[in-house]
Amino acid sequence: MPSTVPSSELNLILLGPPGAGKGTQAERLREDFPLAYIATGDMLRQARADETELGRRAQEYMERGDLVPDEVVIGIALERLSADDARDGFLLDGFPRTVPQADALQEEMAKLERRITAVLLVEVADEEIVRRVSGRRVSEAGRTYHVDYDPPKHDGRCDVDGTTLVQREDDKPEVVLARLKKYHEATSPLIDYYDHQGLLRRFDGARPPVEVH
Ligand code: AP5
Repeated sequence: MPSTVPSSELNLILLGPPGAGKGTQAERLREDFPLAYIATGDMLRQARADETELGRRAQEYMERGDLVPDEVVIGIALERLSADDARDGFLLDGFPRTVPQADALQEEMAKLERRITAVLLVEVADEEIVRRVSGRRVSEAGRTYHVDYDPPKHDGRCDVDGTTLVQREDDKPEVVLARLKKYHEATSPLIDYYDHQGLLRRFDGARPPVEVH
């Protein structure tokens, strides 16, 4: 007989436009709960840095603010989801981002006899997104700061490991607008998708990070 899912298992999805603060809230949630953190954007950036075949394939899409094809992303996300550390709960950030990705996740969860606990939607208006993303700086390890809203203690240096903070290639204004357009076209239908399943929880992402948390 297959074992039943423990009721304490937390399987969360962070949903929201680029720059809404998903990564920022993920950092805080991971301090609260021991969840495996699965961020497809981070995985793809790592693949690019490692110059793997996956990284090379993803690069052209990411550079122009487009989504990496479903078949590529579904493969890496579901493989990561089946790792040992994700067995007792996970936090998905940036996946799913299209209806086919959400369908694939649903199928996989059914196969594993697990279920999504909640989908946390972080809502922020487009104008604020542009302000946030243009001021974002990241460390080598991917820790996130903002030049005005969340500055490091020492200019241009990560508080944790002292590495130089840089601007992400896809945070240039023209790419941010393309990413936002893609969000509205391909990802926002997931709001209704999960609302119909009774899983959606809405958060006002325009408030300061500590209040969103
Ligand atoms: P990904 O890395 O997932 O980027 P994203 O979803 O666009 O999200 P961001 O990382 O830009 O923003 P965030 O919401 O985490 O905000 P953050 O906390 O940093 O994806 C990158 C690319 O990879 C995609 O464009 C695509 O090409 C590809 N990809 C990834 N997943 C894919 C998938 N499933 N399918 C297909 N392609 C995929 O905050 C932003 C800034 O605001 C920071 O500076 C922060 O300090 C500041 N801030 C945060 N919260 C607040 C607040 N409450 N008030 C004020 N400032 C705040």
